[in-house]
Amino acid sequence: MYFHRVEKPDRIYLIGMMGSGKSTVSQSLARQVGMQAVDLDREIEQSSGKSISQIFIEDGEKAFRVMERDALRATINLHQVVIACGGGTPCHWEGAAFMHRHGTMIYLRATIETLLSRLNDDSTSRPLLNPDNHAALDSLLAARSQVYESAQVIVQVDGRSVDDIVSEICRQLDLA
Ligand code: S3P
Repeated sequence: MYFHRVEKPDRIYLIGMMGSGKSTVSQSLARQVGMQAVDLDREIEQSSGKSISQIFIEDGEKAFRVMERDALRATINLHQVVIACGGGTPCHWEGAAFMHRHGTMIYLRATIETLLSRLNDDSTSRPLLNPDNHAALDSLLAARSQVYESAQVIVQVDGRSVDDIVSEICRQLDLA
């Protein structure tokens, strides 16, 4: 008798645009597969003692990207974790290459319409976002798409429940 035993990845990096559901999905996925959930933005807020928008206003985006890079690099010390990244994490400082090297990258792909509808009430905590500006979000997504699309697992999230998304990730990772 043979058993097909699938190893859990040590680190799962959830990537995608703001509003794609990374934080919510990370928590549910972590619960489902018995791993811990980590949110990079929250880690940055804790270690800096400032909110993300405060960092953008007081220190600027460049400084934020350095903090983000350092938070990503620190994940090397974590094991059995699902990490919700910021939207820009894979696109700066070779973040995507780091994630590929040290874990499994999962892209939560959503249309601009879905992103805008989810982000509409939430612009204060997302400094890069002007919810009225469809074109800006569109060009940000276009600039990031190639990096996002390099993920091992891609899940189209529009109109789907968190449970459904988590099940598909588990299926694609053979963890079901
Ligand atoms: C950013 C996304 C945000 C946060 C910061 C920058 C981005 O995270 O890291 O505002 O560049 O797309 P979420 O994707 O969790 O909103």
